[in-house]
Amino acid sequence: LPADLAAIVGPEHVVTDPDLRRSSETDWTGQFRGSALAVVRPATTHEVSAVLQCCQRTGTRVVPQGGNTGLVGGSVPDDSGTAIVLSTARLREISAVERLSGQVTAGAGVTLQTLQDHVRASGFDVAVDFAARGSATIGGMVATNAGGVHVLRYGTTRRQIVGIEAVLADGSVLSHLSGVEKDNTGYDLAGLLCGSEGTLGVITRVRLRLVPTPVERVAALLAWPSIESMIDGLARIRASTTLDAAEYMVRRGLELVMSTFDRSDPFRRPHAAYLLIETSAGADPSGAEGMDDVAVAQSEEQRAALWALRELHTEALAAVGPPRKYDVSVPLDRLAAFLEEVVTMIEQHDGLTCHHFGHLGDGNVHLNVLGDRDETPEILRLVADCGGSISAEHGIGRLKRPWLHLSRTPAELAAFRAIKRALDPGGIMNPGVVFEP
Ligand code: FAD
Ligand code: MLT
Ligand code: ZN
Repeated sequence: LPADLAAIVGPEHVVTDPDLRRSSETDWTGQFRGSALAVVRPATTHEVSAVLQCCQRTGTRVVPQGGNTGLVGGSVPDDSGTAIVLSTARLREISAVERLSGQVTAGAGVTLQTLQDHVRASGFDVAVDFAARGSATIGGMVATNAGGVHVLRYGTTRRQIVGIEAVLADGSVLSHLSGVEKDNTGYDLAGLLCGSEGTLGVITRVRLRLVPTPVERVAALLAWPSIESMIDGLARIRASTTLDAAEYMVRRGLELVMSTFDRSDPFRRPHAAYLLIETSAGADPSGAEGMDDVAVAQSEEQRAALWALRELHTEALAAVGPPRKYDVSVPLDRLAAFLEEVVTMIEQHDGLTCHHFGHLGDGNVHLNVLGDRDETPEILRLVADCGGSISAEHGIGRLKRPWLHLSRTPAELAAFRAIKRALDPGGIMNPGVVFEP
């Protein structure tokens, strides 16, 4: 097989050397490690199609991989050594920004940051943003329906897609990139591929709807005496201001970030909870009722410093961990009670510590548990009992596969399996992710 693949992509783009494969075989958290037959790097949609035809013919399993920043173990192979990793790193073409429609088409392997730089030069921005922007790719974002810090303003990645090109397991190319906003011509294949985590095909190009660059931007960190007061405060702020972001953290996480990365506290004394808000409307958040204190960024440097306190949580926890990660969402009116209950439930066990932070505006909490005892069933059942989702934005991958039934009905799961069988009858696309292999 490697020789056949080399004939398609060139021998230098079929990596079989174990040392060179290793970074593609280990996920960002270091908790999922596998072994691949080869890492294959096609440069065009046509090459992706030829690679998949070859894999279909030989029954070879395929793990699509973008920036390998996923947090649910979906981007790396199992340890059988029989699957290829199909890297999108060379699918890096970007079209010029189309000013009239406010759209751009990007190759799956373009990183979010590269696309941001590209479109900002034309006065536009990408609606989705998050801390892994330097490595996460457009294909990976679409495959996971990435969320990030602007969901409360613009929605998730799915809402930004106006066209998609993808290759199915048999090598057939679906291409629908014209970008017309109104297009009710049958099934929404882009919507289906979005969030499919590499189990239905390889996304090769995406046409995205852009947003305007904000003229004026205010970032402020609001300090609160409790989580309840912060959630009440957010409801009041939202009623009068269009927010671009509403991210939260608590004292324990802030202290960990400050000590790990030598950052300073924006406030003179500690507070229980912190809400980082950003608005492009030039609103003044300093009068929000019920808060302890506020730090408003006066410069781009101060704004970046406030954002770093929030965005560095993942790396700070990885440095003391690895933690068990639970990316969950809960209806906002139940969030305070949920957090109280889940933290108490986890920390009643000696040696377990629960850190939490997240996208407050979306009711999306990232619980990170340090310590040996595994409380996964209890935590995820509590989420489901609260009417929440066991995966708010990171996807199912391998990590959440045993728990998918907590958020989806048997009828929904049967429909998932029917779609999978129809598009990938040989089951070669990312086996073990979302579904049992
Ligand atoms: P990968 O990790 O390479 O792959 C992820 C999944 O998509 C895998 O199942 C893979 O098979 C599939 N896939 C990748 N490319 C393709 C393709 N072209 N076609 C088909 N399938 C494909 N996520 C959020 O949603 N919000 C956040 O705020 C956020 N913050 C993060 C912060 C940090 C520091 C880190 C490390 C991660 C964060 N993530 C976040 C998770 C991750 O960055 C996203 O899931 C991202 O979308 C993954 O992109 P990727 O290119 O790295 O994909
Ligand atoms: C975040 O919001 O920072 C991410 O989703 C990463 C994480 O959950 O650690
Ligand atoms: Zn997140």
